[in-house]
Amino acid sequence: MPDVPTKHARIRTLEEYHDAYKRSIENPEQFWSEVAEPFTWRRKWDKVLDSDMAAGKNEWFSGARLNITENCLDRHLAARGNKLAIIYEPNDTKTRHLRLTYRELHQEVCKFANVLHNNGVEKGDRVCLYMPMIPQLAIAVLACARIGAVHSVVFAGFSATAIADRVNDAQATVVLTADGLNRGAKQIPVKRVVDEALENCPSVRRVIVVEHLGWPVQMKEGRDVWYHEEAEDVAKTCPAEEMDAEDPLFILYTSGSTGKPKGVVHSTAGYMVWTDYTFRNTFQVEENDIYWCTADIGWVTGHSYLLYGPLLAGATTLMFEGIPTYPDAGRFWEVIDKHSVSIFYTAPTAIRSLMAAPLDNVLSYSLDSLRVLGSVGEPINEEAWYWYHQHVGKERCPIVDTWWQTETAGIMISALAGITPSVPARAGLPLPGVLPVLLTQEGKEIEGNGEEGYLAIKNSWPGIIRTTYGDHERARQTYFAPYPGYYFTGDGARRDEEGLYRIIGRVDDVINVSGHRFGTAEIENAINQNANVVESAVVGYPHDVKGQGIYAYVICREGACDKDADKAHIEASIIETIVAEIGKIAKPDKIQIVSGLPKTRSGKIMRRILRKVAEGETSNLGDTTTLLDPGVVDEIIGGRK
Ligand code: WTA
Repeated sequence: MPDVPTKHARIRTLEEYHDAYKRSIENPEQFWSEVAEPFTWRRKWDKVLDSDMAAGKNEWFSGARLNITENCLDRHLAARGNKLAIIYEPNDTKTRHLRLTYRELHQEVCKFANVLHNNGVEKGDRVCLYMPMIPQLAIAVLACARIGAVHSVVFAGFSATAIADRVNDAQATVVLTADGLNRGAKQIPVKRVVDEALENCPSVRRVIVVEHLGWPVQMKEGRDVWYHEEAEDVAKTCPAEEMDAEDPLFILYTSGSTGKPKGVVHSTAGYMVWTDYTFRNTFQVEENDIYWCTADIGWVTGHSYLLYGPLLAGATTLMFEGIPTYPDAGRFWEVIDKHSVSIFYTAPTAIRSLMAAPLDNVLSYSLDSLRVLGSVGEPINEEAWYWYHQHVGKERCPIVDTWWQTETAGIMISALAGITPSVPARAGLPLPGVLPVLLTQEGKEIEGNGEEGYLAIKNSWPGIIRTTYGDHERARQTYFAPYPGYYFTGDGARRDEEGLYRIIGRVDDVINVSGHRFGTAEIENAINQNANVVESAVVGYPHDVKGQGIYAYVICREGACDKDADKAHIEASIIETIVAEIGKIAKPDKIQIVSGLPKTRSGKIMRRILRKVAEGETSNLGDTTTLLDPGVVDEIIGGRK
């Protein structure tokens, strides 16, 4: 693209990839200073990199001053003012789509930023967003960044309790929401969910409500205001706040193997450089591309590759409010044809759910505009890869299987479309700047190809997690202490004979359900809130569409479920508890009521056994002699769902 003059910023051949990779590892400071050069800086950095991996301290471009929205918006106005920045495709096929040029988006962001300012939002304040996938969500996120407020987007599928946890952890003072949202045939009264959450959130003093569906909502006097009323007379320009390179840009909550979800913090300059660089190179974006990432902005993929990455690169990004199967399983393909989408980025779970529908749903669309396909969120199985390649990409479009995490901010291991190898079930080679290693459980590096181990990253990269909000020790313990000197990913991986990485899956107690992360402990805590539950243990098991399903073993209070009718009732009430504590997305697929759990004599639950039973591998349970009560295992096998 025109405003990236340095050869370092854009790789076009395999040779260039190898050259860039080598330079990025041998001299990261030189490499990244060249990549960072063309951005708009109010002040350049004093030092490119300051890293102490063992302490989990990483600073990039220290001393630099900037605002990321000047790079997403203002910088493009001269050459791309009339270019489309956002295409919005609504949930309902009868509602008209909407397009915003860079100039219009700039103006809308400025107006929203002024509304935030007028409502007392200042640099450093935390703003929580619980909104539908509508342009105002993108605008609101950028408006926060414009004035230096830290955005914390909560996916609008989480429950009131989950919102309250996140708002309280971040001590957010303002919440942005809408009257309601449509998702497929379902409707969610998001404002009402926010109202319920805020009963337990003393830090919040203002709620700004965007009118989307025209639903009646209750406005709390002194706390709630309508966006459209606040925006009536505000100025159409808003100066961008000058931020430090390491000022936090956002918090995004994600699940780990212990405790409550943690607020992953990303800072400004490194995040900007990393998302822009990885976006352009992975997808090999050209000026006229229409790019569509199907993720919700409530997840990191939506942050980095629906919003920031594409806008930083001056690309046209499509934002879709709906779901793949509404009104039918042809919706994705219809949208691709309608808007001539050339780069399409989605999740394996969506592909698998569409594979299950009659093939006509995809064959009746031309899909001629497509050039590059992407996958993210979980390992893509070979069957799904070939289906995507054959029926969507018509064997003409390279597939990039992008491995990364909320904590990495951007793509770490992936093919670069059409340049580095794209092999089914392999994420591929690392991006420049990323030095992956495989470790033994004891932390020894495993050399050579054809090997498997724990995936860790040996160096710092611009998008590395900076901290977990309000608790740096937690970040250090989780990511940097397990193997000092490395960032620990929590994933297991294999390096094949060609040196391509294949991601096997989590090696910790995290379950990946339809590309969404849940900690087993988090779901167990929710289940244990149910008055009839004494104890529970949750494991993941292979699921045809979701990748992993949630299997819950539950011990009930004595006398609570002696009869079969009681069991059905209790199962329903456990589901209700989870929906209230976390949200519908964490609903278990299977609940098995048991009288005991397999425990060692020291009281530790043997999850290995529970996992095997859930997987149906009951003939090979391994050593069960150390169990306190081996009889429990037979009961569990007998009652398997
Ligand atoms: C998994 C989503 C295999 C992995 C961007 C990781 C993947 C977790 C892939 C992060 C992929 C993501 N192949 N596994 N291409 N992409 N994962 O934080 O287990 O929601 O650790 O970030 O998803 O999930 P998160």
